[in-house]
Amino acid sequence: MKETILLLLKNAVAPLSGEAISRRLGVTRAAVWKAVDRLRKEGCRIDATPNLGYRLVFAPDTLSAPRIAAYLPEHPWREHIHVLPEVDSTNSYLKRLGAQGAPDGTSVIALHQTAGRGRRGRSFYSPEGEGLYLSVLLRPQAKPEALMHLTAMAAVAASRAIETVCGRRPGIKWTNDLILGTRKVAGILTELSVVAETMETDYVVVGIGINCAQTAFPEELREIATSLQMERGKAPDRCALAAALLREFSRMESALLSEKAEWLHEFTAYCVTLGCEIRVLRADGERVAHADGIGPCAELLVTYPDGTREAVSSGEVSVRGLCGYL
Ligand code: BTN
Repeated sequence: MKETILLLLKNAVAPLSGEAISRRLGVTRAAVWKAVDRLRKEGCRIDATPNLGYRLVFAPDTLSAPRIAAYLPEHPWREHIHVLPEVDSTNSYLKRLGAQGAPDGTSVIALHQTAGRGRRGRSFYSPEGEGLYLSVLLRPQAKPEALMHLTAMAAVAASRAIETVCGRRPGIKWTNDLILGTRKVAGILTELSVVAETMETDYVVVGIGINCAQTAFPEELREIATSLQMERGKAPDRCALAAALLREFSRMESALLSEKAEWLHEFTAYCVTLGCEIRVLRADGERVAHADGIGPCAELLVTYPDGTREAVSSGEVSVRGLCGYL
């Protein structure tokens, strides 16, 4: 209940009286007072003015399952949110839960990852308190080969969620890096497990790392990475952002097979790779190409300088701009 009160106070444009809150939530005024007292003990500054009511002055950006769930009233996924102080990787942890039968929509959020993973075996920089590290488990009823576009749809979902909470819509560097300005603000790692006997999809884990409050990055990331704090002068409320991500990932799951074309159309509209000269990087070398468009399964359609064309898929290659990361 205290998390719902905190959310009411966050959204209020004027002070809220204890009476108004108690009526709204169907609880006694004493219960409201107790909840406000507990919120204050957790570090919230809540002013109380006689005859006017409560006004939230400051709330610490604390990640907790009840606080995220307060943003998702009636949503079935709100029951399966796990917030951990520290974990190797939220993707790895959730894969373990997935193998034990965790339900669709189970999510894991960590304050800190000791072995955050990126694509192609890279590590993902995951400092405590500065980022949002979130993974969600999906159990789509489809063969793995029918899910080639899932990562692209996840990028659209995540970019929508960031816009909802932060008012800025990130671009998408094919396939799944989110870009603000010219730098990466978030990365997505999608992992799929199949049932060995049937080759059906068992589960998919979609993991996203968003740089939220960083004001600087280590030397090796300085030219590549940015944060929401650096781009908009303000770090986001990470509980609001986590809830917006879960809401959008759940919409994505519902649309996965039925609205693929519409979502890939949106992906194309926000894909910053298109129209650029790029390098297509494979294990056996790299080739310069022009990025022309997005194919029906989210492949990147490219033309090489000799005029030959190819549809490259993300499992196979990664792309870089000619002069830098984009
Ligand atoms: C990339 O940039 O290549 C993808 C980065 C994905 C990072 C996220 S953080 C939450 C989840 N857990 C991980 O270990 N990786 C993903």
